[in-house]
Amino acid sequence: MKKFNTHLQKIFKSTAIYFSLIAFAGLVFCSAIGYGAPRTPEDLIEISCGEKNQSSLKILIAYDTIHGSTAEVAEFIGEDLCDRGYQADVRFVANVPDSSLYDAVIIGSGIYQTNWLPDALEYINQNYEALTRVPTALFIVCAAMSEDTPESRESARQNFVDPLLAQYPDLEPVSIGPFGGAVDFNTNQYNTFEKIVLRILGLILGYKDSADWRNWEAISDWTAGLDAQLAEEE
Ligand SMILES: Cc1cc2nc3c(=O)[nH]c(=O)nc-3n(C[C@H](O)[C@H](O)[C@H](O)COP(=O)(O)O)c2cc1C
Repeated sequence: MKKFNTHLQKIFKSTAIYFSLIAFAGLVFCSAIGYGAPRTPEDLIEISCGEKNQSSLKILIAYDTIHGSTAEVAEFIGEDLCDRGYQADVRFVANVPDSSLYDAVIIGSGIYQTNWLPDALEYINQNYEALTRVPTALFIVCAAMSEDTPESRESARQNFVDPLLAQYPDLEPVSIGPFGGAVDFNTNQYNTFEKIVLRILGLILGYKDSADWRNWEAISDWTAGLDAQLAEEE
C-alpha cells in the first residue's frame, strides 16, 4: 500500500494534473452543488484593529471561505498589519459595507475546483473600477501550496490567479500571496463530494484526517513585503 501511495504521489506530483482531475470530478459528480459560504458561524471571522490616527492607512482584508482556513489567514494578515501601524478591517467579502472607505484592499479566497469562491468573484466584479484606483493585493489559500517552493508558487499563480486577472486586466495587484490551506475531517462539515475529493487528495498528499499547510511565517513575510510596498506607494 505504501509503495502504491508513493507511486501515486509521483504520478500526481504535478498540481496542475491533480487539480484538473478535481475540477473534472467536480463537474461530473457535483455540478448541482454550488458553493455558499461560510459553512459554520465559527468560520466567519470579522475583526477591526489598529490605532486611529491621521497618518495610518486603513486597509480592508476581504475574504471568502467555506471551511474557515482562509478566514484565519485573513485575520492573521489583519492583525499583522495592525502590529505594523495600520488600521485594518477583516470582513467576509459579502459583508463589506463600502470599499471606498479604505486606502488599500486585500482580497483572499480559498480555492475550490481551481476557482476563486463565488462571493469573492462577485466582489471583484462589483468593485472592479474602485479596485483599480487603490493599491490592491490578492491572496489564495489552497492545497496546491501544500509545499511552498518557487515552482508551487508559480504554478498556483498560473492556475488560480492569472485566469482571474485575464478577466480584469486593469486590476494590477501590488502583491499576490499563494498560501497553503488546511483540511480537517475532525472539525469541518464536509459534504459527500468534498469528502471524496479530500480523501483522494489525502492519498496523494499523504494525510489521513487532517493537514494544515498554512505557513504563518511565510504569510507574515508576505505582509511585511506588502507593508514595504504600501510605504513606497504613499
Ligand atoms: C471540493 C474541494 C475542492 C478543492 N479544490 C482545490 C483546487 O482545485 N486546488 C487547490 O489547490 N485546492 C483545492 N482544495 C483545497 C482547499 O483550497 C483548501 O482546503 C483550503 O484551505 C480551503 O479553504 P477554506 O477552509 O477557507 O474554505 C479543494 C478542497 C475541496 C474540499
